[in-house]
Amino acid sequence: MGFNHDSVNDLAHDVAIVGLGAAGLAAAIFAKRAAPDARIVAYDAAPKIGAKILISGGGRCNVTHDVVTPDDFNGNRNAVAKVLRTFTVEQTIAWFAEMGVMLKREETGKLFPTTDKARSIVDALLRECAGIEIVLNSRITSLRDIDAKRIIVATGGKSVPKTGSDGSGYALVREAGHTVTEVFPALVPLIVDESSWIRTLSGTSVEAELAVRTGSGRVLVRHRGSLLFTHFGLSGPLALDVSRHWIAAKRDDANATLVANFLIGETFESLEQLLMREHNPRATIASVLRGRMPERLLDVLAPSTPLASLRKEDRRRIVRALVESVIPVERDRGFDYAEVTAGGVPLSEIDLATMRSRKREDLFLCGEILDVDGRIGGYNFQWAWASGRLAGLNAVK
Ligand code: FDA
Repeated sequence: MGFNHDSVNDLAHDVAIVGLGAAGLAAAIFAKRAAPDARIVAYDAAPKIGAKILISGGGRCNVTHDVVTPDDFNGNRNAVAKVLRTFTVEQTIAWFAEMGVMLKREETGKLFPTTDKARSIVDALLRECAGIEIVLNSRITSLRDIDAKRIIVATGGKSVPKTGSDGSGYALVREAGHTVTEVFPALVPLIVDESSWIRTLSGTSVEAELAVRTGSGRVLVRHRGSLLFTHFGLSGPLALDVSRHWIAAKRDDANATLVANFLIGETFESLEQLLMREHNPRATIASVLRGRMPERLLDVLAPSTPLASLRKEDRRRIVRALVESVIPVERDRGFDYAEVTAGGVPLSEIDLATMRSRKREDLFLCGEILDVDGRIGGYNFQWAWASGRLAGLNAVK
């Protein structure tokens, strides 16, 4: 520990942490462990610690995933890998166990506390913060207001601002000379046209494939997963994962589209062939496909007219609606409903071995303020724990 408390011009604190969300908590805990005598202060704008952790994972907090790779993130993969490999999933599980929180793996690979309560996570993290001075209701508006030798900025992004993460941290890092890329919502539900059939299926979910295409039809991204129809449009893991790609594509190309395949494995051609092979004169598209998708979806997309009496162009239109359905997305639901923020401070401006700013020696950055966003499944917390830990350990060196 390199701090000298006897110096005449001593600052009030050795380390100040701005923002005590997941990343800031990890930074605080590992800083304190590495340097038990360090005088650490943490400021948070919110009246209570842990608002976002408490609402995460549907109130259960999906702490991490049993397999985390750089491919699960958007952003510079090599750079992300450097940070992730310093704190593996196994180390994360062990860390939580040390704090008294056992994690369990669900079928999807997501890890949750065995209590199924995010509260256990927040309580454990706060217990570990004993000895750290925590100042609540304190929104920092300038780095000049901080009286500490080292500063860790862990202010998150802009998602769900009522939890305290309103983007005000960007001004702090800009003050230090950092740039901030354009930010936009990620893992966000999508709103479709009011008149769309999608809204009539609220509550139905389906295993589907979503593709983001350029106006010229080139597929930019394709994901499979569970899609949930809601009263406003689309949600569920699949829509959330694809949302940031759709938003990014739409910014570059106003004609970009979101296209759904509700019969994974079938193409326009293969489905056409399947239907044309049907010889039962009373068969309908719905009867041929029964059991392969939810009845409610089938009812909406495939009429009960016998196949034999369907005109070719009508059949082809229905086939297209089943496997190449252009979703009339109007807009995303915005930061109030986004789980994560895409964009932020470029990783190239950070020394990733330490999370130290390349712009200012006494500054460290971690968590969602950086230009990294992961897919749904515990990846974003893993980024917060790993980058926060590195910042904490190195800020007390
Ligand atoms: P985070 O936003 O958590 O914390 C930032 C903190 O800084 C806040 O406490 C804020 O008050 C404070 N702050 C901001 N500006 C400040 C200022 N100027 N001065 C002082 N304090 C300031 N991820 C996952 O892996 N599994 C999951 O289950 C979920 N579920 C989920 C659900 C919902 C509804 C949301 C909104 C998000 C998730 N996430 C998630 C994402 C995950 O919560 C998120 O990526 C991390 O919490 C980011 O951690 P940070 O600490 O970087 O920012």
